[in-house]
Amino acid sequence: MKGEEKSKKISAASARAHTRKSNSKSSSFPFSLGVYSKIGVVVFVALLAWADKGLRPPAPNVTGTPGGPTITAPRVKLRDGRYLAYKEYGVPKDEAKHHFIFIHGFDSCRLHAFIATEVSPDTIESLGIHIVGIDRPGYCESTPDPNRTPKSLALDVEELADQLDLGPKFYVVGFSMGGEAVWGLLKYIPHRLAGASLVTPVVNYWWSTLPANLTKEAYYMQLPQDQWSVRVAHYLPWLTYWWQTQKWFSPSSVIQHSPEILSRQDREVMFKFMKPENSLPVRQQGVYESIHRDMIVGFGKWEFDPIQLENPYPNNEGAVHLWQGDEDMLVPVTLQRYIAQNLPWVHYHELPGSGHMFPYVEGISEAILKAQLSVV
Ligand SMILES: *[C@@H]1O[C@H](CO)[C@@H](O)[C@H](O)[C@H]1NC(C)=O
Ligand SMILES: *[C@@H]1O[C@H](CO)[C@@H](O)[C@H](O)[C@H]1NC(C)=O
Repeated sequence: MKGEEKSKKISAASARAHTRKSNSKSSSFPFSLGVYSKIGVVVFVALLAWADKGLRPPAPNVTGTPGGPTITAPRVKLRDGRYLAYKEYGVPKDEAKHHFIFIHGFDSCRLHAFIATEVSPDTIESLGIHIVGIDRPGYCESTPDPNRTPKSLALDVEELADQLDLGPKFYVVGFSMGGEAVWGLLKYIPHRLAGASLVTPVVNYWWSTLPANLTKEAYYMQLPQDQWSVRVAHYLPWLTYWWQTQKWFSPSSVIQHSPEILSRQDREVMFKFMKPENSLPVRQQGVYESIHRDMIVGFGKWEFDPIQLENPYPNNEGAVHLWQGDEDMLVPVTLQRYIAQNLPWVHYHELPGSGHMFPYVEGISEAILKAQLSVV
């Protein structure tokens, strides 16, 4: 514990060093502050945080440990002793023609696997699909992973697939922050993927090859509180817990479930996402290792840029699909278009009039499955 605290303080200094470095490197982040204002903001906020004594997140209540939440789901044990919880859907594993692993979005869990819940059992049966929805680390019943990275999640998914005997290749579908995570799977375990669907995957404004004029425009389309939330998650990750729990400034509108970030269509279908039977206590191990860690990883510094990925299927032995609504108020369509244009091997589906929750629109989840399997 002591060691962890120390490393968090050190990361404060390295966060500043990193800010300075990226500032001098190029003008790729023109919407950030100048060096002196940045230092000023850091000092000011650090003082506030100090005064508030809420800088450090409390230790998580780990599922399955004494005093922690109870285990209700099946789980696999991973290489470092962590557990990954999952739920199986569709045809029994041994009878399946295709295996899918579903990676949920922000603030949700294994029960939000829309490719299972929003598609009729008959269709799933006739396609011969077996689906595993996971709890990402720190969410619900999966052990927190303080060392989580885009790569570690890819390895977690691969280990799960192997322990469940899903065979040499399986499909992955990821939604929102879980869609962003699929880029990590395409980078680190492409040989294990029969195909991949990225459903409105979150875009990290700091991926190195995104043009500054596009990121700037998209960044400022966000509500001011969300600009600050991602700015803090990127530049001052150690401050994220405090930032999202203090009372002086508005925290992330996504964390607050603000209706302001829902599009017209999102408002119509949101009730399906919020179904009571799906509302597990996803943050039960603590907000830091679930939703805050998600922001820190998703908007952090990535060691690769998805826009520079190689085609994983040069001989068309699989396909990567990307789905995006043009009225999405969380993931900017302008950035997604740029990514799709620069990755000609990605099959890009842009849905006119759709927001962020389109998998809950009648027929869309089925279309996502059928496109992935090239079934008409
Ligand atoms: C961004 O800049 C590029 C050239 O650097 C230009 O071709 C493009 O039209 C610009 N886009 C916008 C939205 O300003
Ligand atoms: C752990 O559980 C206790 C008791 O319910 C609660 O007071 C505490 O805030 C929880 N810790 C976290 C990190 O959520």
